[in-house]
Amino acid sequence: MTTTARKPVVVVLSGAGISRESGLKTFRDGDGLWENHKVEDVATPEAWARDREMVLRFYDQRRLQLDGVQPNPAHRVLADLESDFDVRIVTQNVDDLHERAGSTQVLHLHGELRKVRPEDDPGLDDAGTFVVGGEVVPGPSVGLGDVCPRGVQLRPHVVWFGEAVPMMEAAMETVSFADALLVVGTSMQVYPAAGLVHCARSGCRIAMVNPDASSVIGFESVVDDFIQAPASEGVVEWARRLRIA
Ligand code: OAD
Repeated sequence: MTTTARKPVVVVLSGAGISRESGLKTFRDGDGLWENHKVEDVATPEAWARDREMVLRFYDQRRLQLDGVQPNPAHRVLADLESDFDVRIVTQNVDDLHERAGSTQVLHLHGELRKVRPEDDPGLDDAGTFVVGGEVVPGPSVGLGDVCPRGVQLRPHVVWFGEAVPMMEAAMETVSFADALLVVGTSMQVYPAAGLVHCARSGCRIAMVNPDASSVIGFESVVDDFIQAPASEGVVEWARRLRIA
């Protein structure tokens, strides 16, 4: 009888910065606006109650934008690592660049741009397909009057400010399995996501990649290696070190 050695579990906590070099803006760099909008105008339940059409249009634009960008070397090197490691991505991003790079285990903490759900459905079960006028379509556009089979208006499958984070428990469990943890491209400003680093077991080596040194402030006691670099360089360097460790 033979036994197969378990691949080491590598968990990656990614944020908007990993997609920056693909051409997607981050939330907190620069003008403080998300694609020219104040976050409270497009990413809160109050915004949805006030002007659904505007919110839907905003997310349609984000979806169209996604079609024009490609995964960058940081996304790709994480997908390539699957040959030797059990790589589990926990991303705060609503884009699909990890999946398009080839990563097979991706947990979206804050939802997914390419999914919608009935507005009365706070959970995840009905998510995953665009249902326009009762018909399943591939997207990308969702308007007022596009409803689920129960007749309920569809909304973006995105966690807005002030809403619960349904995938949090699964994310905490994933991080607790990590033999190595990489935190990349996140300002670590948004909770509960930022608190996930504290779910790593003792002995798990934690690395952080970010061009901005201030992102590690407050996390110095848990981060073993800080690589100050953009994701495309820093993640490649981290992966190189991981392979020879
Ligand atoms: P932020 O915009 O808060 O932070 C982006 C981080 O990426 C910053 O720390 C930058 O220094 C870093 N960065 C910039 N360019 C980079 C590059 N080329 N390579 C690597 N890092 C780079 O984005 P998040 O931390 O992801 O939530 O924001 C967390 C959450 O806040 C988002 O998921 C979103 C937002 O509001 C929801 O939508 C619920």
